Amino acid sequence: MAMATMRIMTSRMMNISPSSSSSSSSSSSPPLATQSLSAPPSSTNLPLRTIPGSYGWPLVGSIPDRLDYFWFQGPDTFFRSRMEKHGSTVFRTNIPPSFPFFVGVNPNVIAIVDCKSFTHLFDMEIVEKRDVLVGDFMPSVKFTGDTRVCAYLDTSEPKHAQIKNFATEILKRGSKVWVDELIGNLDKFLDTIESEISKNGSSTYLPHVQTFLFNFLSKSLIGADPAVDTDIANSGAFYLNLWLGLQLLPTVPLRIIQPLEEIFLHSYTYPFLLVSGGYQKLYNFIEQHGKEVVKRGQNDFGLSTSEAIHNLLFVLGFNAFGGFSIFLPSLFNTIASDKTGLQARLREEVRKISGSTTRLGFDSLKDMELVNSVVYETLRLNPPVQLQFARARKDFRLASHDSAFDVKKGELLCGYQPLAMRDGKVFDDPESFKADRFVGKGKELLDYLFWSNGPQTGTPSESNKQCAAKDYVTLSASLIVARMFQRYDSITGDSGNFTAVEKAK
Ligand code: HEM
Repeated sequence: MAMATMRIMTSRMMNISPSSSSSSSSSSSPPLATQSLSAPPSSTNLPLRTIPGSYGWPLVGSIPDRLDYFWFQGPDTFFRSRMEKHGSTVFRTNIPPSFPFFVGVNPNVIAIVDCKSFTHLFDMEIVEKRDVLVGDFMPSVKFTGDTRVCAYLDTSEPKHAQIKNFATEILKRGSKVWVDELIGNLDKFLDTIESEISKNGSSTYLPHVQTFLFNFLSKSLIGADPAVDTDIANSGAFYLNLWLGLQLLPTVPLRIIQPLEEIFLHSYTYPFLLVSGGYQKLYNFIEQHGKEVVKRGQNDFGLSTSEAIHNLLFVLGFNAFGGFSIFLPSLFNTIASDKTGLQARLREEVRKISGSTTRLGFDSLKDMELVNSVVYETLRLNPPVQLQFARARKDFRLASHDSAFDVKKGELLCGYQPLAMRDGKVFDDPESFKADRFVGKGKELLDYLFWSNGPQTGTPSESNKQCAAKDYVTLSASLIVARMFQRYDSITGDSGNFTAVEKAK
């Protein structure tokens, strides 16, 4: 069930219709080439406009929006249709979960769907990110050992700096084994795929990707080898899927079994008790086999043992395993379903720089411009985390490309990234996948690539909420692409299956 839910959640989170275009993307004005959007823009000279849209009647007003989001429209049409209706990339709407059983949760948000407005979400002077990782709704802290882990902490809370620096440190420590673990586990994954294809004609790869990710990330981030514990080796990924699924179900549109989904999955939360056994086993695994890393958290960052372990488990399971489990299928889909000759170009670039057997390292990627650009373009069109939330720390004036809006302290901003990343005022031909978009001068566009909750040219730190692993994620993805084209001349498949691989000749 967990694997199936994860598979559906994964595909739903990536389900973005490329056909419809946004009002900003249909604009005929040329992309902004020089204006930096990585810092919040000035609102001077822009006409002041009241934020359009409404929340409807108290309590029941959120029901139509909830049904549209989860059932009738799905997130993409939900945001696009409201943007078009209001003629604005900034508007008021409700975001589920909401009435009737999420009584304490306020679904009212200010939606933001263009690149320029989106940058306000990164400015920690004007917004706070306390407990808003997935909106006003926050999964019970029971799922994280009664601890508010890093992703829920605002930068004004001293603990945020302690844990963010700890996360940065474990990445630095892990970098010594990162590439070897990545390539070693990727090769095992690809061996499995090859054998399944030769036996069955195709391979459904998500379960194998997750085994690969779990082993690679446990070794690299925690310094713990799942192979030392048979239960964890066999079921660690399954425990994480269950734990992730139960926390996130109230927020994820599956859109397959309505109205049962609304009644059973989106109307209330499920108790942690249902997954506590698996969570405890993962906790014990880290405590026993990740001692050195846990000690680092205690001695160098002032964390208690349990704070260090719950945070490590969250980084491993939610941030890293969860993030890559969504991202890699979209990357594989981009490459394996391509019919434009992209594979031949990638193969040529990889082999020119690294041959088909040379050991790859982060350094090998410096000159693989096309490989890197394909990774960035996949993240642009399919940002793995689609919604970003932040609450106004004070009254401020928000600027979109064409208007300014007054936002009141306490209002919740909700950025829908798939639309912001298709902003035609920034990205030329924004709905199309352009493999070379970020090559050469195109690298300037990295200022506007926001998958990590900040620009790709930004620096994650204790003073912001940008993904601690911003560079590790893109470098790892590029390494995966490079290794695949060292091994194969061609790969055929989609976001769920590989159907053929042709070995390098
Ligand atoms: C494809 C994989 C990943 C994706 C898509 C991803 C995405 C994100 C996003 C969007 C955020 C900001 C969430 C928000 O506040 O709205 C975030 C935060 C974070 N990520 Fe990642 N992430 C990935 C992998 C990783 C990995 C491997 C680590 C390992 C250290 C990591 C550590 C963190 C941490 C610690 C934060 C919280 C930052 C803070 O509170 O200041 N992430 N990630």
